[in-house]
Amino acid sequence: MRIKNKKRFIISCASLAVLLVIIIVMLIIRVNTQTKEIQASEKSPKTLVAESQKTTTEAEATNAEPTTTDTTKVTETPVLPEVSQTTVSEALNDGITQVVNKNHSISSDLVPGDLVTVDLPSTRDTQLRGVAAIALKGLFNAASTAGIELYCCSGYRSYETQTGLYNWNVETYGVEGAELVSARPGMSEHQMGLAMDVTSASVGFDLLESFGSTPEGQFINENAHNYGFIVRYPQGKTDITGYAYEPWHLRYVGVDVATDIFNSGKTMEEYYGVN
Ligand code: DAL
Ligand code: ZN
Repeated sequence: MRIKNKKRFIISCASLAVLLVIIIVMLIIRVNTQTKEIQASEKSPKTLVAESQKTTTEAEATNAEPTTTDTTKVTETPVLPEVSQTTVSEALNDGITQVVNKNHSISSDLVPGDLVTVDLPSTRDTQLRGVAAIALKGLFNAASTAGIELYCCSGYRSYETQTGLYNWNVETYGVEGAELVSARPGMSEHQMGLAMDVTSASVGFDLLESFGSTPEGQFINENAHNYGFIVRYPQGKTDITGYAYEPWHLRYVGVDVATDIFNSGKTMEEYYGVN
């Protein structure tokens, strides 16, 4: 009987101990949960708004377009992807043969990273991309050797400059007239730094259609392709290019393409089969 009582006493003690442990564990869990709830509720609305804004900014940064500066850096140190030869040569081509016209525009942010002031007779200071400036020097030297004096008139134009020019043309000639002689901002090859308007004393250093029949205009027409330039808006092609005859507007595309285009008698649009 005494042994039975002792057993019952031990079992009761053990049960009590287990019960106590369960109660203590439950208390600890409850206290922990309450602490977390208090910490969360203590964040002010201001803190929560700030955090949500931080998340948005981070998301925007991830999706952001590269800035002009970033693009310039990429151009300076090209890291070519491991892809087919065609893609590599397109990457190296660096926009030289890109068609820009009324249907194919460029970003308002585009500023070529390699502009240089041309070191040639000019009616005012003007710039071109380096490769085009070197090629133009070759053309001017050849002209000079042939007794032809050429002058640069207008090379690179920023998006803002083109805006001012287009608006001036609209005010002066109306929209229809302006559309024939001036590209809308974002649609001019001048913004690419690959176009130069050339002139001569024989046309009073102006940009006139009659330049095309002067010895200077004829020299350009016959020789520009040998230095990588095309007369971009030829006579009788307004329905394709969208612009009136501009015997003074030279576009750099590189010697091979310029020679091909010259021999084909096509416009750049026809040559590449684009509108
Ligand atoms: N005059 C040419 C079309 C230009 O403005 O780019
Ligand atoms: Zn021009």
